[in-house]
Amino acid sequence: RGAAGAATDLAGRHVVVSAGGTREPLDPVRFLGNRSSGKQGYALARTAAARGARVTLVAANSALPDPAGVDVVRVGSAVELREAVLRAAADADAVVMAAAVADFRPAVYATGKIKKKDGQEPEPLALVRNPDILAELSAARLRAGQVVAGFAAETDDVLAHGRAKLAAKGCDLLVVNEVGESKTFGAEENEAVVLGADGTETPVPYGPKEALADTVWDLIAARLPAGGS
Ligand code: CTP
Ligand code: CA
Repeated sequence: RGAAGAATDLAGRHVVVSAGGTREPLDPVRFLGNRSSGKQGYALARTAAARGARVTLVAANSALPDPAGVDVVRVGSAVELREAVLRAAADADAVVMAAAVADFRPAVYATGKIKKKDGQEPEPLALVRNPDILAELSAARLRAGQVVAGFAAETDDVLAHGRAKLAAKGCDLLVVNEVGESKTFGAEENEAVVLGADGTETPVPYGPKEALADTVWDLIAARLPAGGS
């Protein structure tokens, strides 16, 4: 971006963004899910396209319409999201995991609808861990110089939790949102801080998701090796 308004600093780059929330199927009609709308991931996809990138948006169960000029891959579960992200990331300059990925999925998928039985209590629901896609991407670095970023919503000592999570995942950037009860300003206080593996901290004031998205792309663009794909 520049004073001239030309938004082409990501021209020649391929970026992958995951968005939405995964649904973990229990039987043909039921799933475990979360409330992610996909808005932040879609904002990231739109802003990257506006800055000239080729964008693959891996969208998990979002009701939002496909952004213009973006290659959208729709997925359901965390396992499907992993496959689609890894495939798209093979030649990507950057990957941003904005999706809310379920940590657990039902251990067993019932191919027929689960029925209740008269006079019987339900079976407890057994869960297993889902793959950690962000950690896997960070460890694999599917393309040389690939920049990997994630999101985290934390409470309490947000920066300490964020720093620990950034290190655990091994990614380059982690966008940390403070959620829940605020000490001073109530629920509206929701400032993000983008933590860098290089020790940087970039505060982003409360505002539209596009503004946060543009800050994320600024930080990613600064970390990309010279030259496009
Ligand atoms: N993530 C992922 N795969 C998972 C879980 C999370 O790729 N199985 C990514 C999310 O897309 C996000 C980042 O990891 O970019 C942080 O997600 P979060 O749920 O905060 O991290 P967790 O390691 O699951 O930690 P927690 O136990 O706090 O939920
Ligand atoms: Ca989690």
